[in-house]
Amino acid sequence: MLPEILWAVPPAAAAVPLSAAAWHHWSPTTWSYGPGLVGSGLRVYLTWERVAQGCGLSHTRHKVKVKGGVRRVNVEKKPKLRRFRPTAYGFRVRARLHDGQTPDDYRDALVRLAHAWRVDSVRIRTSGPGWVELVAARTDPLNTVTEAPPLGAEGWELLKVRMGTLETGDPWVIDFRQVPHWLIMGATQSGKSTDINALVYGLAPQPVALVGLDLKGGVELTPYADRMSRLATTRPECTDLLSGLMDILTDRMTLCREAGVRNIWQLPEAVRPMPIVILVDEVAELYLMADKSEKDEIARTSTLLLRNAQLGRAFGLYLVVAGQRVGSDLGPGVTALRSQITGRICHRVNDAETAKMALGDLAPDSLSAAMKIPAEMPGVAVTVGADGRWYRGRSDLTTEEMAKEAAAAYADLTPPWELLVSGGIKEKETVPAAEIDWDRLEEEMS
Ligand SMILES: Nc1ncnc2c1ncn2[C@@H]1O[C@H](COP(=O)(O)OP(=O)(O)O)[C@@H](O)[C@H]1O
Ligand SMILES: [Mg+2]
Repeated sequence: MLPEILWAVPPAAAAVPLSAAAWHHWSPTTWSYGPGLVGSGLRVYLTWERVAQGCGLSHTRHKVKVKGGVRRVNVEKKPKLRRFRPTAYGFRVRARLHDGQTPDDYRDALVRLAHAWRVDSVRIRTSGPGWVELVAARTDPLNTVTEAPPLGAEGWELLKVRMGTLETGDPWVIDFRQVPHWLIMGATQSGKSTDINALVYGLAPQPVALVGLDLKGGVELTPYADRMSRLATTRPECTDLLSGLMDILTDRMTLCREAGVRNIWQLPEAVRPMPIVILVDEVAELYLMADKSEKDEIARTSTLLLRNAQLGRAFGLYLVVAGQRVGSDLGPGVTALRSQITGRICHRVNDAETAKMALGDLAPDSLSAAMKIPAEMPGVAVTVGADGRWYRGRSDLTTEEMAKEAAAAYADLTPPWELLVSGGIKEKETVPAAEIDWDRLEEEMS
């Protein structure tokens, strides 16, 4: 006769895997910090010798063995693993490079590592002299939709905008001072305008001037007109706006030359002109001709845009160009413009040709990742930025309403266009109305 307590053993034994499965299903994040982490850690360390060998990451060393007579044998030496850490979606770990290895050797082995570690993907997060940091994700972190933080909830840094999250788990940030111009490409409904929304949303509270070119009848950018010093929606307006920017550029050049500096950031703060971000949505419209009479005007617009891109960097003029295609079929100036723009964001595209246009010259090895972006994941993009590497990321869902609200809330920061052109607006001058001590100001004025 079994002691009565033993009857509890089978249900208890069944409860353990069942609750583990439920835990894994309902809270994958806490699971991945708990049992998931232990399991992954054991798998990675216990199988590393075999895995490294299978992925071609081990080094063969010749060794002289004395036991049983002197002879030379080959020994496979695995790279050392360090700093195994949990992340929200999996884990990361650092590997020491063998002599003669480069991070590219690991890049070639990432798919193999993902299979060996039974995870969705493995990426290189960072690397330094002699090491790489690998990030393994059990599920694609880009599956989740994230919203932009509430307006004003976070502080800002000048000309830096949070766009979303990279698949390494790091924030995806655009820093115009590092990479001045950005090209955003993608099919319709892939998330281009959402990026523009995020830029308006992020730049609105900053002492930065925004101008817009929107030849799609203004439907894309008009909601943000409150925060824009100027918005051009017809071709003559675009030419006028771009030549105005050219004048600003020339004045700033003179200012810098006279002060003996190379760019506006070396000028004293008191005289430093305000940075200007130029937003262009649906760039193809700028180049498309309705009839022959527009030819000269298009050539002029194209030249002005190119000049702004070539010279803008040093003088605080930053360009963001969004469109479905930016190929040579649009006109002669387009390829030259693209080569001036070193920041790239490529959303889902319909054909390999477009992906090549967006990324081919800077990150040819990213093309297959760009081609694999599924239609049901808008906002996912491959981006190339300051370090020249490419990353997959997903933008925060910044809706038109949110950007519109930000534009309205910070409308008082908008410098008038005339003052921008005359050089009267300095970066320091715009202080949010709420921060001004009006009583003291009145006292000082009287
Ligand atoms: N990061 C994102 N996460 C979730 N949904 C997104 C994201 N970005 C865009 N979307 C969705 O995709 C739709 C199309 O985006 P939009 O930016 O207008 O594309 P495009 O300008 O390329 O045509 C939006 O209405 C939005 O609902
Ligand atoms: Mg759009």
